[in-house]
Amino acid sequence: MGKWIIVVSKPELMKEVFQRVDAFQKSEKKAHLRHRRVSNPAFSRSWPPELFGNLAIELFEVMDKASEKSPTFDIFHFAMRYALDVLGLAAFGYNFRGIRKTGSELEKAYHTAVDGMSDMKYVLLPILEEIPGFRRPKLFNRIDYLNDVILDIIKERKQNLKFKKVNSDNDNYDEPGDLLYYMLKAEETQDYLKSRLTSEELLNDMKLFLIGGHNTTAISLAAAIYFLGRNQECQEKAREEAIRIIGDEKKNIIPNSEQIKELKYINMVIKETLRIHPPSPIAVGFRRAQKDTRLGEYAIKNGTILLPHIYASHHSEESWEEPHKFNPERFANEKDTANKYFPFGGGNRICIRMNFSLAEQRVFLTMLVRKYSWKITEPSIHKDELQVETTLFGLADPKNLEVEDIKILTIIAHHV
Ligand code: HEM
Repeated sequence: MGKWIIVVSKPELMKEVFQRVDAFQKSEKKAHLRHRRVSNPAFSRSWPPELFGNLAIELFEVMDKASEKSPTFDIFHFAMRYALDVLGLAAFGYNFRGIRKTGSELEKAYHTAVDGMSDMKYVLLPILEEIPGFRRPKLFNRIDYLNDVILDIIKERKQNLKFKKVNSDNDNYDEPGDLLYYMLKAEETQDYLKSRLTSEELLNDMKLFLIGGHNTTAISLAAAIYFLGRNQECQEKAREEAIRIIGDEKKNIIPNSEQIKELKYINMVIKETLRIHPPSPIAVGFRRAQKDTRLGEYAIKNGTILLPHIYASHHSEESWEEPHKFNPERFANEKDTANKYFPFGGGNRICIRMNFSLAEQRVFLTMLVRKYSWKITEPSIHKDELQVETTLFGLADPKNLEVEDIKILTIIAHHV
C-alpha cells in the first residue's frame, strides 16, 4: 500500500524490537494499557482443567460418531469447533454448542461476522459498503445481533454484581468465574483505573478474545495432531507419558493441575509445534519506530514500520539445527531456546492469553493421545509439509487436514 516495511527475522533483533518499547511501539498505547490491566487478573489465575476437559469429552463423542461414518475426517474443523466452545464459556459463560453442531443462532452470527470481516474485497475497498449492490445489510444485521446478545450478558452481569454489593450478606449470586466476571471484579478493586470500561469496551474485549483465540489455538491443536500423525514415535512417546501420569483406566480422564505440570514431553510437543508451525507467522499489528534509532547494525528512521517475522526466525538455519524437522527434544532444556522462540510475540504486547491457550492445549492433547492413535491419510497433500491457507489476519490455517485411523487406545492395548 505504498509504504516500506522492514521485516525483522534475526532472533536477536526481534527480541530487541519486542523489548525496546520506548523505541518500537504498537499503536493505541494508552487504551491498550487500560484494557490489559483490567484483564490481567483474570488471566494470571489458573483455569480449571475441567473447562477444557469436559468439552474435549464432548468432542470425542462427536469424533467417534464421525469416524463410524467415514474413516477420515478434517481435524482442523473439529479443532475449530472445540476452540470456539471453550472460548465462549471462558469469556462470558456462553456455550456456542459448535462441537455438537446444534449451533446456536449466536454461533452462526459469529461465523457470519468473522467471514464478512475477512472478505478481502471489503478490507481493501471499504467504500464498497456505500455502493448499492455491494452493501451487506445481512452481515450488519448479524453483527448487531452478536453485539446485542453479548451486551445483554454484560449488562446482566453488571446488575448482578451491583446487587451483590448492595446485599453483601446475601450470597445467592453464583460467581461465574469467567473472563467477564473477573474483569468486572478487577474494576471494582483497582483504584488506579481512572475510569471504568464501558459496556461497549467490554463488548469489544469479549469479541477480541473470541477472534484472537479461536483460530490460533485451533491451528495449534490441528498442527500438533498433524506432526504427531507424521511422527509415530513422538506420538507413542506422548502416549506413554499420558498413560504414566494420568493412568490407563478405560474412561476419559481429565488431567488435574498437578499432573499437567508433570507432562514434560507433551509440553515439548506443543512448543515444537508452535515453533515449526506458528499459528501467527508474523506478530500481527506492526511496531513503529518512535524516533531515529539503531537496530543492531541498521539505522532506522523515525516512523518506520517494522514487522517481526516469527515464522522466518523459527526457521533460520543460523539459529536452529534442521529447522524443518519436527523434533520436540530441542525443548528439553528451556535455556537453549529462550532467546530465539517467539510464537506468542514478545515484550509488553506478548499474547495476553498465552497461558490460557497453553493450558487448553496441554489438557486436550493429553486426553486425545491417551485415548486415540492416528496417522495422516495417504496419499495426502500434506505428505512433505503442512499445507496452509493464509487468512486475512495472517494466520496459517491448515488446509483440508485429514487424519485417518482414529482408533480408541484401549482397543489397541487389548490387542497387544
Ligand atoms: C496458540 C495460540 C496463540 C498464539 C500462537 C497467539 C499468538 C499471538 C501473537 C503472535 C500476538 C502478537 C504479540 C506481539 O505483537 O508481540 C498475540 C496477541 C494477542 N493475542 Fe494471541 N495467540 C494465541 C492464543 C490466543 C488466545 C487463546 C487469545 C484469546 C483468548 C489471544 C488473544 C490475543 C490478544 C488479545 C492479543 C493482543 C495483545 C496485545 O496487543 O496486548 N491469543 N497473540
